[in-house]
Amino acid sequence: LPTEPFDLVIFGGTGDLAVRKLLPALYHRFVDGQIPASSRIVGVAREGLDDAGYRAQVRDAVEASVPQTVAATLDAFIGMIGYRSLDARKADGWEEFAAMVGEQPDHIRVFYLSTSPELFVDICERLGSFGLNGPRSRVVLEKPIGRDLASANAINDAVGRVFDESQTYRIDHYLGKETVQNLLALRFGNALFEPLWNSSHIDHVQITVAETVGVGHRAGYYDRAGALRDMVQNHILQLVCMVAMEPPSSLSPDAVRDEKLKVLRSLRPINSSNAGQFTVRGQYRAGAAEGQGVPGYFDELGSDQSKTETFVALKAEIGNWRWAGVPFYLRTGKRLPTRVSEIVVTFRQLPHSIFDPASGPLMPNRLTLRLQPDEGVKLWLTIKHPGPGGLRLRHVPLDMSFATAFGVQQPDAYERLILDVVRGNPTLFMRRDEVEAAWNWAGPILEAWEASGETPKPYTAGTWGPSAAVALIERDGRTWAEDAS
Ligand code: BG6
Repeated sequence: LPTEPFDLVIFGGTGDLAVRKLLPALYHRFVDGQIPASSRIVGVAREGLDDAGYRAQVRDAVEASVPQTVAATLDAFIGMIGYRSLDARKADGWEEFAAMVGEQPDHIRVFYLSTSPELFVDICERLGSFGLNGPRSRVVLEKPIGRDLASANAINDAVGRVFDESQTYRIDHYLGKETVQNLLALRFGNALFEPLWNSSHIDHVQITVAETVGVGHRAGYYDRAGALRDMVQNHILQLVCMVAMEPPSSLSPDAVRDEKLKVLRSLRPINSSNAGQFTVRGQYRAGAAEGQGVPGYFDELGSDQSKTETFVALKAEIGNWRWAGVPFYLRTGKRLPTRVSEIVVTFRQLPHSIFDPASGPLMPNRLTLRLQPDEGVKLWLTIKHPGPGGLRLRHVPLDMSFATAFGVQQPDAYERLILDVVRGNPTLFMRRDEVEAAWNWAGPILEAWEASGETPKPYTAGTWGPSAAVALIERDGRTWAEDAS
């Protein structure tokens, strides 16, 4: 798709996300010819850098993340990049900044707020005061949007006084992952699944987002967030929506988001009355990751006074006609044994077996969507083991690996999403009411934990979280899918 020329301003331009993800993503799109020549990319941060200093940082970041760069192409990309030193809380430099942005009045303007959310309001007010919020402007808000419903509403209200909802793009990069979008194709592009996609045929759903990394130098941010705010309130709930939503009438932004919103609003409350039963929190201690000894959370934080969870497992339920009685077991954590994100849909047991028990167990069908790494889809079926030795049943996968089927490297989520903003397509972004509904569900869980005064259960780095997470699912006569463990 062609893209109009644009100016992209990244607030937080020297931050981890900008340097590690956004700029390399833009480089890939540039290589693919989707960034028209007159476009500009401007990093903004408080550091007193000049264009040359910032360009050197960007060059290093792109070279570190892209295995082979072509010198002339990288030079041309770097030539689009500039830097402005600004403080959202001080007036200095804003007038010059506004004049620079105003030099290209016909360009699409994207203001990407990759800063701490405390600065969102100040930045938007400044942009508004210089009239940079016209119809060709868009603002991108990185997560976290607030730390609870009240603070999210305060941010959304303040941003909403400057930018219209149609100009506001709340990013959740999980929605840009190829395999997450593939859920739409799989569910609504095949006749096979949708008739079975309900409580009559599905026993339960599991979503695992496991990371091997610890919090490292992000401990300051992370300790105020924790796994529920960092991963569940946004990324994992968005995955739940993609699995559970009703078929939208089209892929138009509001048709999709209306259906996701209904799922979020149907989540059954977890609060002080049932949090002990439905949730498990963990915090890692020193252990091992990929064969190397690694420190515990307290060591990384530099304090042993934290009750922040680095792991959470929970049993969510969707109170609607389609999903009544189908548990969604969700878990995510840092310092788990392997990096894997997976959605596993387990179908119900057969009503009756015609086979001799000696033929082997009849396992329920299972559909596994591997989001990362090794993106793919597996459908587990029962078949007869070949050979004359009687009828022996085996459970084997129909296995579709994206790498084998398409042979191309999966683009990073940000590549798709940044260009969606430029093109004015908000389908894969969260509408304000979705953020509110997600906080409405997550808030009482956080309050229940706070009120209980309990500390998260310790787990050794490199294990699958506290044993209580296993008990959470085994109590229901189920187990975490072995693919992910
Ligand atoms: C971010 C979280 O939103 O997502 C991080 O803040 C987490 O803590 C990251 O590591 C995971 O993203 P991905 O794309 O690597 O799965």
